[in-house]
Amino acid sequence: MHSPSKKVFFADYVFYVSENVYEPAEDSFLFAENLVVKEGESVLDMGTGCGILGIIAAEKAAKVVAVDINPYAVRCAKENAKLNRVADKIFFARGNLFAPIKIGEKFSLILFNAPYLPSGFTEDKSWLEHAWTGGVTGRQVIDRFICEAPKYLKKNGRILLMQSTLCDVGETLRRFEESGLMTSIVAERDLPFFERIVLVKAER
Ligand SMILES: C[S@@+](CC[C@H](N)C(=O)[O-])C[C@H]1O[C@@H](n2cnc3c(N)ncnc32)[C@H](O)[C@@H]1O
Repeated sequence: MHSPSKKVFFADYVFYVSENVYEPAEDSFLFAENLVVKEGESVLDMGTGCGILGIIAAEKAAKVVAVDINPYAVRCAKENAKLNRVADKIFFARGNLFAPIKIGEKFSLILFNAPYLPSGFTEDKSWLEHAWTGGVTGRQVIDRFICEAPKYLKKNGRILLMQSTLCDVGETLRRFEESGLMTSIVAERDLPFFERIVLVKAER
């Protein structure tokens, strides 16, 4: 691994987090604690960061595809997959949301710990800003994800999306339901300053 800057532990896993890559935080850990993967499933880990969710999912999954727009994240996640001995099950791709996914490819489970915080950043974002900023309303990436994700979901598949109450959880539920999915809240946790992070499930 090239110049690892931090080492993060979760259960029996260890993740190196290099410069320019999102360091797993409360949202990553709440997601990981509530991540249920069934034996043999196919999983898409959108916005993989250091790979934490995809690598945990790979223990049970038959196959994981991990995507990130940030080239440093893809490199870092690949190294972590080797370190955690699941590299043979994970395929990595750099790209903008579903752009790298083959047409017609479908998954049993799609994960996204999204960039969800409202901010004035729009163009010329740093790689770390890409990890947390969701434009003025916080929904810039989330809304595109919700619009595209159902096309990549198998018949009985499900989506897990992490976001914050700062970018309108009700709007997420409404948009998923509009595309024919049933929604529920899997887990939530209060953060300081009147923010709560929420893990939403949407399923067929
Ligand atoms: C909050 S971080 C989560 C990282 C990791 N999954 C975790 O839970 O620690 C969001 C990740 O999404 C990636 N990302 C942001 N916009 C994206 C896009 N349009 N397409 C793909 N990945 C994106 C960021 O680069 C970042 O790695």
